[in-house]
Amino acid sequence: MDIFVIRGGTPLVGSIALAGAKNVALKALVASLLTDEPLILSGVPLIRDVALMGELLAGLGRKVIFNEHTVRIERDGKDSFQVPLELGARLRTSSMVLGPLLARRGEAIIPNPGGCRIGARPIDRHIEGLVKMGADISYHSEDGYFHARAKKLTGVTYEFPKNTHTGTETLILAAVLAEGTTVLRNAAQEIEIDDLIALLNSMGAQITRSDTREITIKGVPSLHGGAYSIMPDRNEEVTFAIAAAVTGGRITITNSQHEHLEAFLDAFRKAGGTAEVEGATTTYASGGALTAVDVTTAPHPGFMTDWQAPWAVLMTQAKGSATIHEAVFESRFSYVPELKKMGADISFFDPPVENPEVFYNYNWSDRVPGFHPAIRIAGPTHLHNAVVNITDLRAGATLVLAALAAQGESYVHGIEHLDRGYEAFETRLSQLGAQLKRINEE
Ligand code: EPZ
Repeated sequence: MDIFVIRGGTPLVGSIALAGAKNVALKALVASLLTDEPLILSGVPLIRDVALMGELLAGLGRKVIFNEHTVRIERDGKDSFQVPLELGARLRTSSMVLGPLLARRGEAIIPNPGGCRIGARPIDRHIEGLVKMGADISYHSEDGYFHARAKKLTGVTYEFPKNTHTGTETLILAAVLAEGTTVLRNAAQEIEIDDLIALLNSMGAQITRSDTREITIKGVPSLHGGAYSIMPDRNEEVTFAIAAAVTGGRITITNSQHEHLEAFLDAFRKAGGTAEVEGATTTYASGGALTAVDVTTAPHPGFMTDWQAPWAVLMTQAKGSATIHEAVFESRFSYVPELKKMGADISFFDPPVENPEVFYNYNWSDRVPGFHPAIRIAGPTHLHNAVVNITDLRAGATLVLAALAAQGESYVHGIEHLDRGYEAFETRLSQLGAQLKRINEE
C-alpha cells in the first residue's frame, strides 16, 4: 500500500498535457467485443482500470496488446461469456460487456458491478433497457452473478427513467447489432458518450444523436475493426485547474477540453479564478482573492459530480460560505472528514428540495440512513498538514490538492485509488514543482 508524502505551500507552475479520458477508454475497450477484426485504440491512459479491463477482455477470448498509449485488441479464439467475480467486483464498467456479449453470443454471466465507494451504483436502468430489447436477465444472489440470455436483440424505443451515463452506453453497445432501430429517450449527454458513438460509427455502426436527449441506433449485421484516438480527460483538467488556483500557481493545459467544461469555467471564473483560452491551450491561475460560489451537481451539461470534490478544496480557500449540493450520487462526501483533519470548516446540511425522488439522480430508495446531500464550507481557512486516507478516485485527487495547498508535510494513504484513474499523477505533479514523493508502506 503506497502513500504520498507531500510538503505543501509550493505554487504549481508549468504546462501539462491531459491523459486520455478514462471514461471513454474503458468503453472503447468493451466495444472491441463487437467485432472479430483487430481494433487499435490510441491516446489510452495508462491507468489501473484500463489494465483491469484488458485482463477482463483477455478472459473473454481477446488478445490485448499494449504499446505505450496504444492498445491493439484482436480475437484470440478461446471465447467465453463469463466475467470472473473478483475482476468484475473491482471494475464497475465490467457490467457493460452485457451489451456486446448478448448482441453477439446471446449469453453473458457478469458479477454485480463494483467501482468507487460513492453509492449503491445499481444497474437497474441498464437491465430494464436490455430486457425491453429481448434479453432475459436474472440475478442469482447465491452466486452474486447476473445470468443473461437473448436469442436476438431487437430494436426498441426505450425511455430512461433517470439519467445514466454508462446505462446509455450499455444500450448503445447492445443496439448497434440488434435487429431494427433503437431509439433511446432521456439519454445521457455526457460528451464521453459522443466519443464512443464516433468510435462505433467508425466501425460501421449507424448512430445519431437525433435530439438533445435522444439517440437513434440503426442495427447493422456486423461491425469491422479499425483505429481510433480517444479524447483527452476533461476531469483531469478540472483537477489541474484547481491545483493551480489553490497553490497560487499557474498551469497551462496544452490539449484543453475547455469547450466541454463550460459549467466548470463559469463557476471557476465567478469564484475569481482565471482561465485564459488560447487555441488548444487554457491557462489556469487563482487570480488573487477567491470568493465562495455555490454549486449543485447535475448530469452534463451541468456541473459534473466528478468535479465537486476538488471544488470543495477550492472553496476552503475562498472568502465566504460556499455550498455543494450533490444530486447525482448518494454518498460522495467521503473526503469531508479528511479535509476537516486539515483544518477545513465544513458542515453537512439538507437543502429544501421540492420533489427529491425526481430531483436526485440516484434511486431515492438507495440513500443511506443519516446521509446528507449537501455541505457548507466556510472560508478562507489555512489548511495544515495531516495524515489522511483516500477512499475513492476523485476524493483522492482532492486530498492531494489539499495537501499541496496546506502548510507542512502531509501523509496521504490509499494511493491505489488514484492509480485507478490518474496516469503517473506524482510524476506530473512533480514536474509542475510539487514537493511530493511516493513511498511504499509495506
Ligand atoms: C459514470 O458513472 C462515470 N463513470 C462516473 O465517473 C461519472 O461520475 C458519472 O457517469 C456521471 O457522469 C464511468 O463512465 C465509468 P450514472 P455511472 O449511471 O454511469 C444511479 C469517475 O470518477 N443509477 O450516470 O455509474 C447511480 O447509482 C466516475 O470517473 C441507478 O440508480 O453514473 C448514480 O447515483 C465516478 N441505476 C446515478 O444514477 C442505474 O441503472 C448516476 O449514475 C444507473 C445509475
